This record gives sequence, structure tokens and C-alpha cells, in this order.
Amino acid sequence: MITFLVSFLAALVCEFVHSDNLPVAWCYNNPACNFPNWPNIAPQYCNGSSQSPIDIVTAQVQGNPNLTQFILTGFDANTTFTSITNSGTSVVVSLDEDIMSVQGGDLPGLYVSVQFHLHWGSSSSLPGSEHTVDGKQYAMELHIVNLHSTYDGNVSAALAANDSSALAVLGFFIEGTDEADKTNSWDIFTSFLSNIPNSGNTYTDIMDQITMNSLLEGVNKTKYYRYQGSLTTPPCNEDVIWTVFKEPIKVNNNLINRFCTKVFAKTAKASDLNVNNFRGVQPLNGRVVTSQVEQTGSSAAPSLVPTSISSLSLILLLTSLSCL
Ligand SMILES: *[C@@H]1O[C@H](CO)[C@@H](O)[C@H](O)[C@H]1NC(C)=O
Ligand SMILES: *[C@@H]1O[C@H](CO)[C@@H](O)[C@H](O)[C@H]1NC(C)=O
Ligand SMILES: *[C@@H]1O[C@H](CO)[C@@H](O)[C@H](O)[C@H]1NC(C)=O
Ligand SMILES: *[C@@H]1O[C@H](CO)[C@@H](O)[C@H](O)[C@H]1NC(C)=O
Ligand SMILES: *[C@@H]1O[C@H](CO)[C@@H](O)[C@H](O)[C@H]1NC(C)=O
Ligand SMILES: *[C@@H]1O[C@H](CO)[C@@H](O)[C@H](O)[C@H]1NC(C)=O
Ligand SMILES: [Zn+2]
Repeated sequence: MITFLVSFLAALVCEFVHSDNLPVAWCYNNPACNFPNWPNIAPQYCNGSSQSPIDIVTAQVQGNPNLTQFILTGFDANTTFTSITNSGTSVVVSLDEDIMSVQGGDLPGLYVSVQFHLHWGSSSSLPGSEHTVDGKQYAMELHIVNLHSTYDGNVSAALAANDSSALAVLGFFIEGTDEADKTNSWDIFTSFLSNIPNSGNTYTDIMDQITMNSLLEGVNKTKYYRYQGSLTTPPCNEDVIWTVFKEPIKVNNNLINRFCTKVFAKTAKASDLNVNNFRGVQPLNGRVVTSQVEQTGSSAAPSLVPTSISSLSLILLLTSLSCL
């Protein structure tokens, strides 16, 4: 009941965010400016036909042998996180662009990691991921934003270029658990939230304490979905090669709850708590989601190859059912 009231009061908040091209008034919790209205507020590009997030229907995922391993540089360095900021709509960690990068995995070139941020619901049991899998929404979703190296760190130049491969975003689901935080990384990371209660607050004393990989523990990074989509916030540019990892990060429920109780959309008043900062799923419009071709092992005869896509779908379907 308290959660419901907080969500309701938070609905009065409307954020004003300025992009380089046009001032866009958008928000998450007020019907006047929440995501169903983004196609009116920012028709270019939020009313486009390749929008994100999407629901991933595992039975329709197609096998793609090009989706090989990533080469992830700097994910084990403890000097990459430079600051953490309350943007009013999310919590954003800036990354040292000289350290972290992503290539491989069928990406067209080298992508430099710029920042990561998160999306959450209104409690560990009221979910807030952006992508869903067969309709299942996870507790949270973490997005690592990577910019193609040709843009030399200039995100505005990349967005102005209307280039469908300008950005490569890595999406990780977060699932709640009652188990304690083994590495302490999520505990340390979420402890910084108390330093950035208000929109615009930035805290910089976060260096040398955690690595990117320590926040991604338990996720097999060779198993992921791939599709072509957009930024999930206005102006929703259709410039993103999406990678959504299949296995969720498991985070203690109490730590997940820090996001919806410590971070405010404007000022530290209960009525402004930042909750439910996710966009609802968008139509596929004919887009295809691909994934790794399932390894069939040494016994796989060539005659089995034509059925590999449907057997992959079946395996994915069975896997998803066992996770419900
Ligand atoms: C959004 O796109 C649809 C289909 O192209 C169109 O019918 C509709 O008028 C557009 N809405 C806005 C607000 O531009
Ligand atoms: C895999 O890559 C090759 C070479 O770039 C390309 O011709 C082929 O269409 C790709 N396959 C898929 C399923 O995307
Ligand atoms: C970034 O790109 C924009 C648009 O192309 C340009 O106006 C701006 O000067 C660039 N910024 C830097 C720091 O190069
Ligand atoms: C952006 O690129 C898409 C796909 O190439 C194209 O359909 C669209 O017209 C372009 N938009 C602008 C504003 O250039
Ligand atoms: C950060 O990494 C360096 C080099 O690997 C290591 O010497 C140092 O102890 C680490 N710092 C912390 C706080 O773990
Ligand atoms: C990740 O999954 C692949 C494919 O199933 C498997 O070969 C590999 O051993 C897994 N890696 C880890 C660290 O579990
Ligand atoms: Zn995001």
C-alpha cells in the first residue's frame, strides 16, 4: 500500500531533459509525459518502427552463427568508474573512456564504453526491466552504453549521424535473490546511492573499489540475444545494436530495494522517489531477434543442421519455462 502511494505521488513528477537537437519534456510517472506519450512528445524518433525495448519471444529467435564471443577490454580493471550521477531519470556511472571497450560478437568494429545506468521498478518484487523474455519482466536491467570508435567519444555527433550502428548497448537482466552478496560489489555500489539523492547530484569517490565484471558475476557472456533497435528514452534514435544477455545477474533483494528508496527524481521528498523508470515494450514490426546456434556436440550429423534453428527455439522455450 505504501509502495502504491509512493508510485502514485511520484506520478506528479515530470522531468525536463534537453538533447542537442530539441528540448523534450518527458518523464516516467505522469500520464502526460510518460512513455505512451513519447511518440507525440518526440515523434522523431520515438514514433519510429525499430524501437526498444522489446519482448523477446524465444520461440521466434533465429540462430546466427556469427554471434561469437565478445572481446571485453578493461572489464576487470578497478579504475574505470569515474563518477556516479543521479540524472533525475536514472543512476548513471561514467566510465573512463581510455579503459573499457567492446568488440567481437558480430559488432562492426570497436566500441568504447561511455557509461552504464539502470532501470528499476518500485520494489524487488515489482519489476522494472525494459526488455522482457516471453513476457517475463525482471527486477531490474543494467545497460552498458558503448559508442563506435569512429565518433571519438562524441555522442552528439553519433546521434546526429542517424547511423544504425553508432551505439552498441549491452543489456543485463537483474533478478532478486535472498542470498548474501558474495563479492560485496553490489553492496559497495548501491552504498553510493545515499550520496546522490537529488537529481543532478554527482559523487566521484568511487574509484578503485569495484570492477565492471564484479557487477556482472554469474552471467555467461557467450549467451545473448541480438537485434536492431533504439535508445529507450527520448529522442529514441534508432542507432543501437542491442545485445541482451540471457542469464540474469543475481542481486540481493535488499540491495535492489535501495534503488527505489534512496534515489529521488527531483529532491529528497517521498513524493519524488524515482521508481518505475522503464519504457514499456515496443512492436517488433518484422525485426528478427537472433542468438547463438546451439552447440550440438560431436554426435551432430550434417543431416541435423537444417533443424538446428527449430531445435534451438525448442530448447530456449523449455529453458524459459523452467525459469518461471
Ligand atoms: C506515428 O506513426 C504512425 C504510423 O506511421 C502514424 O500513423 C502516426 O500519425 C504517427 N504519430 C505521430 C504522433 O507522429
Ligand atoms: C554472417 O556473416 C556473413 C559475412 O558477413 C554474412 O554474409 C551472413 O549474412 C551473416 N549471417 C547472419 C545470419 O547474419
Ligand atoms: C561533437 O559533434 C557535434 C556535432 O557534430 C559538434 O558540433 C561538436 O563540436 C563536437 N564536439 C566535440 C567536442 O568535438
Ligand atoms: C535515418 O535512417 C533511416 C534508415 O536508413 C532512414 O529511413 C531515415 O529517413 C533517416 N532519417 C533521417 C532524419 O535522416
Ligand atoms: C585495484 O587493482 C590494483 C591492480 O590490480 C590492485 O593493486 C589494488 O589493490 C586494487 N584496489 C582495490 C581497492 O582492490
Ligand atoms: C558458457 O556457455 C558456453 C556455451 O554453453 C559454455 O561452453 C561455457 O563453458 C560457459 N562458460 C562458463 C564460464 O560457464
Ligand atoms: Zn537504459
